[in-house]
Amino acid sequence: MKAITLNINGEKCRVQARPHWSLAYTIREKVGLTGTKTGCEMGTCGSCTVLLDGQPIFSCLKMAVDAEGHEITTIEGLEKDGKLHPLQQAFIEDHGMQCGFCTPGMIVAGRALLDENPRPSEQQVREAIAGHLCRCGTYARIVRSILHAAEMSQNR
Ligand code: FES
Ligand code: FES
Repeated sequence: MKAITLNINGEKCRVQARPHWSLAYTIREKVGLTGTKTGCEMGTCGSCTVLLDGQPIFSCLKMAVDAEGHEITTIEGLEKDGKLHPLQQAFIEDHGMQCGFCTPGMIVAGRALLDENPRPSEQQVREAIAGHLCRCGTYARIVRSILHAAEMSQNR
């Protein structure tokens, strides 16, 4: 075990971690932020996506010990002062989910896209969520939700 400090959603979280623990496992099981989901745990579904220094990563492929010193943002970090992020609001309004398992990863990927490109085309949205599996097949509504969030962000 090694004591590490993770900077998650602007807070320092001190945890004891084994060298082989993934960031996804550590965030969920040791920090208690269970919004991040784990599906395949081998980098093929995207459900575990978090931002590392603003860039989306599959947190099942990142060792927790290697995430020290970086800014980590999880789905819980998107809401501010009790107000949902436009992406969260749009996913609700546009029914961008069925079971919701892929949703945190899709929203975090959407956040990375809108941070870089506030007015993406539909094609750019599709590219941003490539590699994310939605087992319910809700892709069309997910894309619509991200485009709607972009519009909402412009009008804020
Ligand atoms: S759980 Fe990480 S990519 Fe599937
Ligand atoms: S909404 Fe069920 S996996 Fe995407």
